[in-house]
Amino acid sequence: MNSSELRQTFLDFFESKQHKIESSAPMVIKDDPTLMFTNAGMNQFKDIFLGNSPIKYNRIANSQKCLRVSGKHNDLEEVGHDTYHHTMFEMLGNWSFGDYFKKEAIDWAWELLVDVLKLPTDRLYASVFEGSEEDNMKRDDEAAAYWEKHLPTDHIINGNKKDNFWEMGDVGPCGPCSEIHIDLRSEDERKRIAGRDLINMDHPQVVEIWNLVFMQFNRKADGSLEALPHQHVDTGMGFERLCMAMQNKQSNYDTDVFQPIIQAIAKMSGKTYGENEEVDIALRVIADHIRTISFAITDSQLPSNNKAGYVIRRILRRAVRYGYTFLDLKEPFMYRLVEVLIEVMGKHFPELIKQRELIEKVVKEEENSFLRTLANGIKLLDQIIEKTKADDFKVVQGEVAFELYDTYGFPLDLTELILKENDLVVNRREFNEAMETQKNRSRSATAMETGDWIEILKDDKEEFVGYDYLSTDVKITRYRKMNIKGKDLFQLVFNITPFYGESGGQVGDTGYIEANGEKISIVDTKKETGLIIHITNELPSDPTCTFKAVVNAGKRELIANNHTATHLLHAALREVLGDHVEQKGSLVNPDHLRFDFSHFQKLSEEEIAKVEEIVNHKIRENAVTEIKNNIPMQQAVDLGAMALFGEKYGDLVRVVKLNESVELCGGTHVKATGQIGLFKITSEGAISAGVRRIEAITAVKAEKYINDKLNTLKEIERTFKSSQNLLKNIEALISENSEMKKGLEAFEKAQLKLVKNALKSEISETKGVNFISKKMNVKSAGDIKDIAFLLKTEVENLVFIAGADLDGKANLTIMFSDNLVKEYDLNAGAIVREAAKEIKGGGGGQAFFASAGGKDPQGIDAAISTAKKMILHKIEG
Ligand code: ALA
Repeated sequence: MNSSELRQTFLDFFESKQHKIESSAPMVIKDDPTLMFTNAGMNQFKDIFLGNSPIKYNRIANSQKCLRVSGKHNDLEEVGHDTYHHTMFEMLGNWSFGDYFKKEAIDWAWELLVDVLKLPTDRLYASVFEGSEEDNMKRDDEAAAYWEKHLPTDHIINGNKKDNFWEMGDVGPCGPCSEIHIDLRSEDERKRIAGRDLINMDHPQVVEIWNLVFMQFNRKADGSLEALPHQHVDTGMGFERLCMAMQNKQSNYDTDVFQPIIQAIAKMSGKTYGENEEVDIALRVIADHIRTISFAITDSQLPSNNKAGYVIRRILRRAVRYGYTFLDLKEPFMYRLVEVLIEVMGKHFPELIKQRELIEKVVKEEENSFLRTLANGIKLLDQIIEKTKADDFKVVQGEVAFELYDTYGFPLDLTELILKENDLVVNRREFNEAMETQKNRSRSATAMETGDWIEILKDDKEEFVGYDYLSTDVKITRYRKMNIKGKDLFQLVFNITPFYGESGGQVGDTGYIEANGEKISIVDTKKETGLIIHITNELPSDPTCTFKAVVNAGKRELIANNHTATHLLHAALREVLGDHVEQKGSLVNPDHLRFDFSHFQKLSEEEIAKVEEIVNHKIRENAVTEIKNNIPMQQAVDLGAMALFGEKYGDLVRVVKLNESVELCGGTHVKATGQIGLFKITSEGAISAGVRRIEAITAVKAEKYINDKLNTLKEIERTFKSSQNLLKNIEALISENSEMKKGLEAFEKAQLKLVKNALKSEISETKGVNFISKKMNVKSAGDIKDIAFLLKTEVENLVFIAGADLDGKANLTIMFSDNLVKEYDLNAGAIVREAAKEIKGGGGGQAFFASAGGKDPQGIDAAISTAKKMILHKIEG
């Protein structure tokens, strides 16, 4: 069975068990501070498990794009070195939300694997949770009893907390789990060692394929467990491993999911998979990483220098580096793999096809820039090697290797490899220390800790009324303390709220709550796990009373101006540039708006002007914003709404329509566009290959911006005492200025010649050597240098020593004719260094020419005479 059929079989099976089939949520997570990437199929249902969002469907199944490269679940270092870990992988999952539990989960898993997929039962094992004293939990006898119906007892094993109690992160929903493992070894090997003895032992052919989690608890920040409002099932099957089992392969990478990609890289590099372990690792690393990078880009996460973007950049660099080192691929090659990736995965994930050009452009650009960095790093390493050898050392400082790692993306093993070829090693202890210091630095820079929720009103659901009201009476349902970089803050949740929580690029509202004469500022509002969280600096003295909650209306209005203008801008860009323009990111705050979109070249002045014109025209039309709340997705699409890949939409969506601009959006908007007043683009530029960024302002900000520019213009007019022919006047001034500069330079040159000629008349001769030594009156060190070189061409056997006071700083310059350098073994650099002590300074240069600077112009005469003495000493022997 090929991989596409297998994925479909899984989905069809659970559909037949009344599961709703969902599409994958984005792999990059935007509104959850505890998680950067989707690391399990259940992430998108976290709010439901915690009871923060209502259960819409009791049963769901899907194939979820997951990424395990950061946080609690991190497989990055294994990837490529073994045959069954991946950065990005697909997790096939089925879920019950307060519906079926252990029995059905186990029976159906068995039915699918054995009855439908026909996997041999004697190769299957199941593990059950053995219990944990720490959490006061007993063995999961119930799950074991269900397994006993299908498997002999020697195929059921107990598993510890690490393997059989699944937790999403340090806090959050969790529960005991039952894992299904498969033994894919040969008959002989299986006879020699029983499969059960190899479970969870990192054996490449005895692997876990499916994890059935029985969600019952929420792990709190204090480490304790609290029961969830309902019992749920969360399962996850490694799709690539299932493919390996079904296709009778020894490695995930031998399946039809990876082989076409591996073969494409092998062809590009002229290597063969399966002949050399180092080459094979590189091929696996690249085949794995191109998937991660491509899907991250379709989810709008471009490689960058921070957070999720940095993780993606490092993954890309890891792949390029393996290609560079082991496959001899010195030119960009990753972007050429997008084509074959689309052949393998494009059918189920159409975002790859739709965004192919963007992925290729971004990847190629990243590769190019990293290859340049790599080349610079190699140069630097060469210098280090040379210096270390010259100093007769064998060990390179750990800090140096760390700099190569941190700035140039050289992992330690690459640095060590190159050093080894030169009989050198790295001080690993120092390297590890530098790494640890950096980790601590970034940990404390981003550290945010939250305490456990303190519930005041149980079971009260939060309602957002901020589209219609900016003030309302509220009660606090729960609160908790949070600490960011050492500062204590509080998070409050209300039963009803007019505050908009930061999302969809729009910043959160601010304002205050008030009761009994006590007023507490809301400094920000965020959205997290289905909750709207209000952030304050202090707790009200009585959190249980009723508060009047008031949103900062002026700020909200400015935000609305910018948000609606963003929609108008998006539509105008598509009109002017074409339908390939897609939103790639946005920020809407009271001061300005920022809009990132796919487009492949710089916008011309005319295009920018046209976009502004269209938007301002729409503003003057005073189009009324039509909002359609909770309409089915299909209806929204029929209205013309564009669903963006990389966004997660529910079945019911909110649509914001302004004539032909139709967008899915949860943000707050103006009632009619006239309120925006004026729209002005302030900048346009690239943020990466294929993605441009526009920044713009509206209303009073735009008015002020234009007035400031006009005022500058008025000032210029005033300076010229005329408003006529301004541009011509300025151009005339510039050309006049440049003519004058030229004249001045010619004059200065002539002056220098005069000075030189005067110096020539001051030559004093000793043993056939022509000495000129003088404290001069010039403007710059450059002048002295020019004079020195002029003299050198005109005076034979020259020794020229010049001192000068340049704006309070001393200068000393020495020049010799080349023949004197040889004849008397003179070294201007060494002499200038010694003589510069008199001017409290230092310098250097070549044997025939050197100069020095110093703090003390009083010492110039002494410096000249020291230099002269040293030279005479050499000449007179
Ligand atoms: N959430 C479970 C896992 O990721 C199924 O293994």
